[in-house]
Amino acid sequence: MSQPTAAHQDAFLTVEGLVVDYPTPAGPVRAVDHVAFSVPRGGSLAVVGESGCGKSTLARAIVRLLKPASGRIVLDGTDLATLTERRLRPLRRRVQMVFQDPYGSLDPHLTAEEIVAEPLRLAGVKDKAERHRRAGELLDRVGLPSSALHRRPAEFSGGQRQRIGIARALASEPDLLVCDEATSALDVSVQAQVLDLLRELQTETGITYIVIAHHLGVVREISTDIVVLKAGRVVESGPTAAVLASPTDPYTRALRRAALDPTAIRGLKPRAAAAPTAAALSSEGTGT
Ligand SMILES: Nc1ncnc2c1ncn2[C@@H]1O[C@H](COP(=O)(O)OP(=O)(O)OP(=O)(O)O)[C@@H](O)[C@H]1O
Ligand SMILES: [Mg+2]
Repeated sequence: MSQPTAAHQDAFLTVEGLVVDYPTPAGPVRAVDHVAFSVPRGGSLAVVGESGCGKSTLARAIVRLLKPASGRIVLDGTDLATLTERRLRPLRRRVQMVFQDPYGSLDPHLTAEEIVAEPLRLAGVKDKAERHRRAGELLDRVGLPSSALHRRPAEFSGGQRQRIGIARALASEPDLLVCDEATSALDVSVQAQVLDLLRELQTETGITYIVIAHHLGVVREISTDIVVLKAGRVVESGPTAAVLASPTDPYTRALRRAALDPTAIRGLKPRAAAAPTAAALSSEGTGT
């Protein structure tokens, strides 16, 4: 197993010993079990693992929709894990999440413009016209036409709804964006467009990502680092190219085999890969 500890000296986010339990009538169920990793500023960490391994729970704990039982979530020097709601409030803007279900996470009664304008209001943009102008800009930024402004979630396709979710998350100009299977429900060409958008935004703004995905093509395209979870624990972690080049865990090996699948999104090389492993992986991954 590779080192699951805080390896990046310049880490923007460091998670240490994170434990999240769900209360159930039969007693607490441990969904995240002493998870540790770190992400450098402007990096992208992929969190992968089979269904039920704790990915969404981890994501919700990081954005503090859930309170961890123990452990640390240090964002730019501040431990979010133990902060009270009052002290979290000013930090909430900086950490946003795009949810797994692009439909269920949007208020069906609001227009796209209102959905995106709401976080601007919460961030203190008092002028309504200004909020709406900025919402329009954000929807344009994620590639939605101005005709989208006054439509409600039911009138959009899955990919468009996902874009609204991303625009809403970006409205508060977060430093960290957690995307929970943000592209999984989309067809491959739309996934590729959303990934392009995320990468473009990262180049422009230096935003840090945590991307939960189960499609290896997504993982390879978006991530600099990877964490593999199994039953709530980290079974493998490290730079994406290195982990995928010599996986030790059976799940990661299966992921790597999937890399040989010619349907893998666009067969691009992993990002920020060490030269030898990148070369090895790209020649395998593209099937050449
Ligand atoms: N509200 C809850 N109450 C009790 N147990 C829960 C609750 N939500 C999730 N769990 C359990 O916690 C574990 C982790 O769930 P989680 O949703 O984080 O998995 P996941 O990796 O996101 O799965 P998927 O890939 O299917 O989205 C699972 O065993 C799940 O049954
Ligand atoms: Mg999930």
